[in-house]
Amino acid sequence: MPAPPRELIGTDELHATVRRLGATLSADYPDGVLLAAVLKGSVCFAADLVRAITAPVEIDFLGISSYAPGTGRVRIVQDLQADVFGRDVVLVEDIVDTGLTLTYLLGQLRQRSPHSLEVCALLDKHDRRIVPTPLRYVGFRIGDEFAIGYGLDYAERYRNLDRIVAGDVEALRIDPDAHVAALYRR
Ligand code: IMP
Ligand code: MG
Repeated sequence: MPAPPRELIGTDELHATVRRLGATLSADYPDGVLLAAVLKGSVCFAADLVRAITAPVEIDFLGISSYAPGTGRVRIVQDLQADVFGRDVVLVEDIVDTGLTLTYLLGQLRQRSPHSLEVCALLDKHDRRIVPTPLRYVGFRIGDEFAIGYGLDYAERYRNLDRIVAGDVEALRIDPDAHVAALYRR
């Protein structure tokens, strides 16, 4: 039985930060913005962020192939519906780790000639960065932890937690449900 996972960011802190990001985006894009949220990890964040923005906002989603650490090989498996040409676009990410995924996505989107393109990431594992990545909006910087909850998963588990906790990767590798009892027990 692994130790109960440590809380990294509590619910109140998450919501306060999402409100702050929403206020900043509202001020920076008074005429509206297209949020392009990366599936599936950013779904909780994007859903709260969109409601914290007090300017006109459009939301769209794109899906990429699942995380393969260190390879940098990602592909778009579900494209945006919106045409980003000439639009002000903010790419919404759950977490930026090495920066390889984001670098690829930004390259793809830039080829479509948006008017502007920025990134809003909930979590920034700054010390793990391999590719320098311009993050205009960041919720929290975290250390080298495996974050789960509030959209972030391990093997599709834990996305629906209302807070972010540090998963025990060794324990999860042996049993992806290792934290279920501790995190969902009432
Ligand atoms: P990067 O290409 O190394 O920056 O990886 C970014 C992607 O890896 C994120 O969008 C997540 O899908 C996944 N990822 C990286 N770190 C974590 C984590 O701590 N928890 C859950 N997913 C993670
Ligand atoms: Mg992601």
